[in-house]
Amino acid sequence: MNVLTKSSEVTKGDWKVSMTPDDIYRHPMDIAWTFKYELSGDRVEDLYKRAKQNQWDSDQLLPWDTAVDPSKPLINARSDVYHQMPFFQKLSKSQQETFQAHSTAQLLSQFLHGEQGALMTAACVTHSVPDATAKLYAATQTMDEARHVEVYARYCDKIAMVYPMSPWLKALIDATLKSDRYEKVMIGMNMVVESLALGAFNNMYRTTTCELLKKITFNVMRDESRHVSFGHVYLGPVIAKMGEADREDLADFAFQAINLIANGGTQGGGLANRVDPGFMEVLANSGIDADDFFKGLQEAQDAGVNQELPPGQIHSIKDLMLPALFRVGLITPTARKKYEEAGIPIFEDLQVLEAMEGGHPIAA
Ligand SMILES: [Fe+2]
Ligand SMILES: [Fe+2]
Repeated sequence: MNVLTKSSEVTKGDWKVSMTPDDIYRHPMDIAWTFKYELSGDRVEDLYKRAKQNQWDSDQLLPWDTAVDPSKPLINARSDVYHQMPFFQKLSKSQQETFQAHSTAQLLSQFLHGEQGALMTAACVTHSVPDATAKLYAATQTMDEARHVEVYARYCDKIAMVYPMSPWLKALIDATLKSDRYEKVMIGMNMVVESLALGAFNNMYRTTTCELLKKITFNVMRDESRHVSFGHVYLGPVIAKMGEADREDLADFAFQAINLIANGGTQGGGLANRVDPGFMEVLANSGIDADDFFKGLQEAQDAGVNQELPPGQIHSIKDLMLPALFRVGLITPTARKKYEEAGIPIFEDLQVLEAMEGGHPIAA
């Protein structure tokens, strides 16, 4: 299935993103050998053991023969933020259903492309992290991500729709892959992108009406909860021992990533989608005029129509990313000022994050 046919370049904050079919770039990476093979005996080793015990085979575990009708919505309409907006309610039932089917396909496509990014970053951590136990753990994560690419590719094939990768997500993962140190790769992936994914998967698990998609997402989430934990248990002590300049360098990288998501990415949709070619395609495929759509969205926003996520759904930035960065000491006083200037409130409550890492992948 051809995902992207045109080349383009988009600027996202300080990060440029190239959107070309089969994008390839060269990147010299520090590769670390270690000859100290003894395992660490700490929580990183626990994660490695958990990962070995919890490997699964999608052929055996998942009911791939489940029938899926791609023309019907895959999620419960009540859980969609657009359904609460007056302009959306004025669309015909068929337009609403087509939009929902396509916008869910667009989201699932982001899961798929994001998983490929995770596969590459996990492989990158395997060869760049200097610690033996962390290398073994990162190898298990690489296998997990391969499985995630496989299951979402198979599901997207079933609904016969793959939308292009959102420019902001591509920019975020490219900046992570191109970064100059493994700590940034882990911040970009294990703390930021995977927090985003864990929140989005939780919300998909709660709202989908498709049994196959529910089972896929549940099993992927169990793996992702380990990946988010790794960012904490490995990187936390590394950052604690760092000098101030290095810590600020990492804190600034984390800020850039969050700023990109807060201002360019979307949490359940929004006006930022106007610059997302994939989302514009969703509107075109649903027969919805883009100007009308964004005007309606703006009016709903101005009128204060509730755009909060329904109970049980997770806001990835507030519930997962910022608490994760706070916990490892990356919300430094200097970084705190940058968040303030960018209008991003800091959240330090670890409750949702810790519950999801602790083997309870579904939010309470
Ligand atoms: Fe994954
Ligand atoms: Fe992951």
